[in-house]
Amino acid sequence: MFLFPLSRFSFNLSGIVDKFRIVGGQPLHGRVSISGAKNSALPCMAAALLTPETVTLHNIPYVRDIITQRRLLEDIGATVLTPELRTHKITASHVEVFEAPYELVKTMRASVLALGPLLARFGKAKVSLPGGCAIGTRPIDLHLSGFEKFGANVKLEAGNVVARAPADGRLCAADVHFSKVTVTGTENLMMAATLARGTTTLRNAAREPEIVDLADLLNKMGARVNGAGTETIQIEGVEALGGAEHTIIPDRIETGTFIVAAALTCGELEIKDCRPDHLESVISQLRRAGVLIQELNPNTLQVSCPQGVNAGDVSTAPYPAFPTDMQAQYMVLMTQARGRSEIIETVFENRFMHASELQRMGAQIQIDGRSAIVDGPTPLTGARVIASDLRASASLVLAGLIAKGETMIDRVYHIDRGYEKIEAKLLAVGAEIERIRALVTTGQLQEVQPIVETV
Ligand code: UD1
Repeated sequence: MFLFPLSRFSFNLSGIVDKFRIVGGQPLHGRVSISGAKNSALPCMAAALLTPETVTLHNIPYVRDIITQRRLLEDIGATVLTPELRTHKITASHVEVFEAPYELVKTMRASVLALGPLLARFGKAKVSLPGGCAIGTRPIDLHLSGFEKFGANVKLEAGNVVARAPADGRLCAADVHFSKVTVTGTENLMMAATLARGTTTLRNAAREPEIVDLADLLNKMGARVNGAGTETIQIEGVEALGGAEHTIIPDRIETGTFIVAAALTCGELEIKDCRPDHLESVISQLRRAGVLIQELNPNTLQVSCPQGVNAGDVSTAPYPAFPTDMQAQYMVLMTQARGRSEIIETVFENRFMHASELQRMGAQIQIDGRSAIVDGPTPLTGARVIASDLRASASLVLAGLIAKGETMIDRVYHIDRGYEKIEAKLLAVGAEIERIRALVTTGQLQEVQPIVETV
């Protein structure tokens, strides 16, 4: 694990942090393969808690959040085997702990996805309440009020959500209208409803492709879910679910990030193993801005941008509108566009953290509440910047790819949560990027040699 003998050092070692060093200016050329969708893999892994039989999932991305989710499942008592790197065989036959502890929930909010399956199958669940996070307060009140509609008793005890099913241990179906579209809220209630008594209707449900993917898996397990992908989902509860085998859909946000990378660097990328039909709003917005995006076949895109890009306004909203998870990457593109664009963030209240880092690199961005005005084109220059959340870090990598000189991105653990080997994928198509591993000691940071990984 360590790159040199620790005995050479006399300080107190307190951790290892990774950074990216990027030298901008290289157009990207070549072929890149898209990994499985983290946001689909996480609920599908949680769904394995609904059955004592084995659920086999393929195309699981090799990212930090998946490792966290795996740890959560194992802590709960499930067995997780990985016969191949991207295949997980999950068996939750002997569950003894019905709890997601704070140590895991604080690093990954999606741990709350354990609530629905545990409550539905075992009639009890305890999950630490996620606190605030970098992109806003992000409550889970809609998950909890949904469980109450299913007849569960939900209490907050010492920072934990403690939920119990009615006396006979089984949830009752309900008619739930979400006052706000919530992705993991829809997933949590959909999973809980599969084993509830009666037929549940979820209204104003999220319509993301990840919801459809989860419903597909649940139906393979024997559930009766209808309408996933529309705003009304009906789930007829069954007595028990069984094992299943399922392949996770490609990551649409990783796909969008590489489309922007090709356009920004004036390169040409073939993006394979993707699902263009899952990112129509992104593709049409980028085409309007002048990016050439050709669909070579249903799973491959060819992207170039010979004429540069024009400014274009965008507003984020739940699927099928422009995703909030692509907002930061789009903002970087707009710094290079001809003219002024307005980006409105409607999903999260505090999701412009990347803007101040981009300003430090020379971008002209003014933030006013939920609106960002970007003036372009502005040449960017390399700087030391700090990643604040997953998608913000992707935007800083993109900015580094076109900045003059060297960009050093700190706290890349954020990007490792959701992008599989992004530096190796970029390196393979011509970017000058390396991972620097540093030892943090009490009071000092000492750099170690670059880590070079292949795809
Ligand atoms: C999921 C995605 C995340 C994406 C987000 C929006 C996963 C693991 N993460 O997050 O990448 O950015 O969808 O597309 O799939 N809200 C409430 N009460 C609730 C739940 C949500 O007020 O009980 C609010 C949130 O604060 C936010 C909005 O609803 O303003 C949407 O959040 P939600 O869709 O729940 O996001 P996540 O599922 O956490």
